[in-house]
Amino acid sequence: MSVLVTGGAGYIGSHTVLALLERGYEVVVFDNLSNSCEESLKRVEEITGKRIKFYEADMCDASAMDRIFNENPEITSVIHFAGLKAVAVSVSQPIEYYKNNIGGTLTLVDAMRAHGVKNIIFSSSATVYGEAAEIPTTEKCPKGVCTNPYGWTKSMIEQILTDVHTADPSWNVILLRYYNPVGAHKSGLIGEDPQGVPNNLTPYIAQVAVGRRPHLNVNGHDYNTPDGTGVRDYIHVVDLAEGHIKALEKIDVLGGEVKIYNLGTGKGSSVFDVLHAYERACGRELPYVIAPRRPGDCDISLADPSLAEKELGWKAKLTLDDMCRDSWNWQSKNPYGYRNAEAV
Ligand code: NAD
Ligand code: UFG
Repeated sequence: MSVLVTGGAGYIGSHTVLALLERGYEVVVFDNLSNSCEESLKRVEEITGKRIKFYEADMCDASAMDRIFNENPEITSVIHFAGLKAVAVSVSQPIEYYKNNIGGTLTLVDAMRAHGVKNIIFSSSATVYGEAAEIPTTEKCPKGVCTNPYGWTKSMIEQILTDVHTADPSWNVILLRYYNPVGAHKSGLIGEDPQGVPNNLTPYIAQVAVGRRPHLNVNGHDYNTPDGTGVRDYIHVVDLAEGHIKALEKIDVLGGEVKIYNLGTGKGSSVFDVLHAYERACGRELPYVIAPRRPGDCDISLADPSLAEKELGWKAKLTLDDMCRDSWNWQSKNPYGYRNAEAV
């Protein structure tokens, strides 16, 4: 019995592979390394003392998918992280995003069907709620209008996997809607390693703290929030990885179902809350300027994570200060991520 982790060299994938190995799971990983490098998995091997069976493969390549399942008949479940995730790029390159995320998922799921593997845990996102109709948001809240093609790929893949289950009710599908993953493993050996200018808040602040960028741009300070900046539900990536372990335990006892869980903390933090927590972590004030709003950003995104606690026995444990401490530990030890300065 082993688990196939797609996109396992990436940020959340590598932390989840680590958690799986620590629990004694057999793990097979594939990744096309389009937004990651194999070094993350080498470091996971270093931390755990275990070997990872890795394929450099693209999920859009049907013969590669077939080969992976043929060579690993012990795979019983798939945790599906592989995908492109840059919101702004998805707006300028919708065809590439739909082809990769949706086309790739269809190819993967087709190979799963051909090999009788019918358990899948999918990395969805709170973005599928659009401008959420209720805050905090429960899974009962209807899906909304996404503001970009990336978000639509998540919403559509949720529908595709639900339809796959309808056609063959022996499939077990768990859709995990992540809020805002941040932080790093406490070793400081693995962490988030964005290519180019970071799109997300915490990696941007991390690069300001380590001296790679002059200041943070605070995107909008006239939101309908206590300090005027956007409020999000930040979740430590180690807690998120643990959520996948709980989902995997759950999927083994499902009897042909589709389950949806929000993975967040239920606590909101503003941009200034995060900036100040990071200042505490790195021990100095960090420069910022007020900049225009980013198109499509909402005031507040906040999970009601109680269903995951009730049904998975999962609850986020780590605080915003823990997230910033661990992010800084990773960033200060690896100022240029997995690469060196010349390669960036
Ligand atoms: P990441 O970019 O670090 O990891 C995704 C991995 O998928 C990368 O290693 C990339 O090389 C790989 N990949 C992309 N296309 C592929 C393909 N065609 N074949 C094989 N591998 C491919 O991103 P992450 O932050 O670890 O996110 C993991 C998943 O979680 C993604 O699906 C993402 O959309 C989703 N998600 C992320 C966030 C977030 O804020 N980080 C929030 C919600 C959902
Ligand atoms: N922000 C800044 N400056 C920056 C970057 C972000 O002020 O340089 C602000 C944003 O305006 C927002 C907050 O920080 O108020 C968080 O922004 P992120 O980009 O870190 O996160 P988002 O909530 O916008 O989006 C993230 C992922 C999406 C995912 C969503 C919900 O990027 O893919 O969480 O899971 F869909």
